Amino acid sequence: MKQNIFDLTTAELKKIADSLQGKIEEGLKKDGMEISDIPTHIHPKKDIQDGKVLVLDWGGTNFRAAVVAFKDGKATILESLKRPLSAKETVGFEQDTLHEKMAEWISELKTLDSQVTQIGYCFSYPAASRINGDAILLRWTKGIEIPDMLEKPVGESLLRYLNSHRSIHTEFKDIKVINDTVACLFAGLSETGYDSYMGLIVGTGTNMASLMRLDKIEKLNNKEQSLIPVNLESGNFFPPYLTVIDGLVDAMSNNKGSQRFEKAISGGYLGELFKTVFQHEKVKYDFDGGDLANMINNPEQFPEDQVKVARWIYDRSAKLVAASLAGLAQVLTAQDPSIKNIGLAADGSVFWGKDRDKQPYYKELVSKELQLLLPAGVSITIFDEMSEPNLIGSAIAALS
Ligand code: BGC
Repeated sequence: MKQNIFDLTTAELKKIADSLQGKIEEGLKKDGMEISDIPTHIHPKKDIQDGKVLVLDWGGTNFRAAVVAFKDGKATILESLKRPLSAKETVGFEQDTLHEKMAEWISELKTLDSQVTQIGYCFSYPAASRINGDAILLRWTKGIEIPDMLEKPVGESLLRYLNSHRSIHTEFKDIKVINDTVACLFAGLSETGYDSYMGLIVGTGTNMASLMRLDKIEKLNNKEQSLIPVNLESGNFFPPYLTVIDGLVDAMSNNKGSQRFEKAISGGYLGELFKTVFQHEKVKYDFDGGDLANMINNPEQFPEDQVKVARWIYDRSAKLVAASLAGLAQVLTAQDPSIKNIGLAADGSVFWGKDRDKQPYYKELVSKELQLLLPAGVSITIFDEMSEPNLIGSAIAALS
């Protein structure tokens, strides 16, 4: 490829930020829009009582289960396990197949005793939050396809399954289901002193969340001014300036037409973009986002033109993430012009990808681009990489 078709100018990135701003604002007015803006009915408590909870985390690549204890407001992960659970492993699954797998893994936790009655479930797919803390699955993303789970509460059925499982001797009473962006946001709230907060994931998939005033979420018809976490589902944004390669990757996916932003940005698709560019060359069949990062970090081992394209794809991803953060910042500052300093809790394998010198190259690219795109006088501080934000944030949700 001679020309960098993935290149985006600052003016184009600003248009992308503006377009996202408009679509986030539309989603705050009405349900069923391109950007869902899902209010999450879980309010993180400031003074969390001492207790022990089971935390589950399923994001599209792995499933994790952990027992987390809170003492004097401090969370400790007592035990955790991780098992591969991606689109590949779940082919042909039904709800019961999934729940049986999860139950078998959970039963391996040795510190799971009868004191543990609450579950925090970080479920990283579009799901509408209910007042009781459960969530209804709206659609699958990241290549997962378990049709009998659609449009049903995610937590209730899992709780029932676990409570009747032969190898689990705990009676669970309550389950809170939250998105990973919201878990990350909750974990980031321990950094005090910011006017507003955002959560961002750039891993297998991508998405953002933020805290918004209830009276600014018009579709809720609520005049209160208290803050509520909103899961944007920004991976579904259809931005301008996508390329013919993006169109081909979308056409080959199992959810054609949706998650167009995610397909240009996230780890689940970076390898697909690359393979599509080099479809007439020998590239290994299962080349993925990890291989792309490896190619950028070890250029001497690969053909020069391939390394060049890998960099173009990776850089565009970071620039698009910066544009989306700027778009969300524009929404927040339009709602409340006193917002100047925004704290960002970010997570995900792509976002925290390191270069050869162990420096967070991707995060640096996002920061650099943000300087050019943010409204005047507004800044976003990216918090240092947190340890286990999904597990901690879900434990906070369970105990709130
Ligand atoms: C899902 C989001 C999730 C994001 C990051 C997307 O595919 O729709 O709910 O937050 O991936 O894991």
